Amino acid sequence: MKVLVTGGVGYIGSHTCVELLNAGYEVVVVDNLMNSKQEALERVKDITGKGVLFYNVDLLDKEALSKVFLEHEIRAVIHFAGLKAVGESVFLPLKYYHNNITGTLILCEVMEEFGVHQMVFSSSATVYGLQDCVPFHEGLTLQATNPYGRTKLMIEEILQDVYDSNNNWGIALLRYFNPVGAHLSGVIGEDPNGIPNNLFPYITQVAVGKLEKLSVFGGDYPTHDGTGVRDYIHVVDLAIGHLKALEHVLNTTGVNAYNLGTGKGYSVLEMIHSFEKTTGKKIPYQITERRSGDIAISYGDPSKAKKELGWEAVKGIDEICEDAWRWQSKNPNGYETKL
Ligand code: NAD
Ligand code: UFG
Repeated sequence: MKVLVTGGVGYIGSHTCVELLNAGYEVVVVDNLMNSKQEALERVKDITGKGVLFYNVDLLDKEALSKVFLEHEIRAVIHFAGLKAVGESVFLPLKYYHNNITGTLILCEVMEEFGVHQMVFSSSATVYGLQDCVPFHEGLTLQATNPYGRTKLMIEEILQDVYDSNNNWGIALLRYFNPVGAHLSGVIGEDPNGIPNNLFPYITQVAVGKLEKLSVFGGDYPTHDGTGVRDYIHVVDLAIGHLKALEHVLNTTGVNAYNLGTGKGYSVLEMIHSFEKTTGKKIPYQITERRSGDIAISYGDPSKAKKELGWEAVKGIDEICEDAWRWQSKNPNGYETKL
């Protein structure tokens, strides 16, 4: 069965391609490489012994996308393609709205034209915005606090409208918490452009000596040690969640949102100490001002995904640290490192 993976060259997409290939799916990837390197797909092949069919296509190019559907009998789509940097989205909102929303509209149009109605969509826990209590559950009223988050929220609403107009659609909205870690092989992992925005790649780049020290954004949050608390989920657990969601949309119709997280929160200081303990690398840090837009605590209730998809995260923070470090230490320059 052929599955189209948009954004399949990226961090979460490449890990999901590995799981799809290992499970016996044929994988067609569409990616314009705006935030990824094609080398990731070579390495997916090294891990699985199987290749994906790759198209360097922008989702905004409807004609090129239609050609892919014409050439392949696509049964379902896993839709990762999008821009994801929160801070950048504040400065470049039109770029984010155009790429993420128009890209999704074009994808849905083409899917409708070719009678493909099964989609797994990368949403984000960012759609919960500021809430009074944790853990976040899928029934909460949604609210986004920045343009990136609003693209996810708007796409969730658009996909609901698409289903309302044609009840043949089966759509899973996967609200990820904080994806981290890397494939056990250390062959694929996260390779951000420039200085990382996110905590984990920052920690691993300090550990490998590319960055001097970590700034811990805020030491006065109402948390047990004053630093921000997040629900860190291993990227391989997340990838497997996509396979479970895919099986679900292949067998059902409707739109369903699922939290993909562990249900546990860890503070920034706990993550630093855990990394130091499992890897033996010291992470110099200093506590600085809060980062604008950050919330104190975010972790999800993943019980709906367990009940309806039969999925739960199994990898803990020690494995996350070990796997992230294996990737970074073997690939100090990401995909530009020769293996
Ligand atoms: P990524 O940037 O590594 O992967 C996204 C891929 O999409 C990249 O390869 C990029 O080149 C491609 N892409 C972007 N716009 C495109 C377009 N118009 N046409 C074709 N390809 C395009 O990001 P990721 O971390 O793998 O995230 C995947 C998805 O998950 C994104 O939608 C992101 O918003 C969402 N998400 C990520 C996180 C996270 O922390 N990583 C958290 C929640 C949600
Ligand atoms: N942090 C630091 N120093 C850094 C980077 C981050 O102290 O250099 C802290 C943040 O303040 C926060 C925690 O580490 O408390 C995690 O920050 P990340 O930037 O790694 O992740 P966020 O929770 O801010 O955001 C992530 C994704 C978003 C997504 C959101 C909710 O980047 O795309 O999770 O799923 F929307």
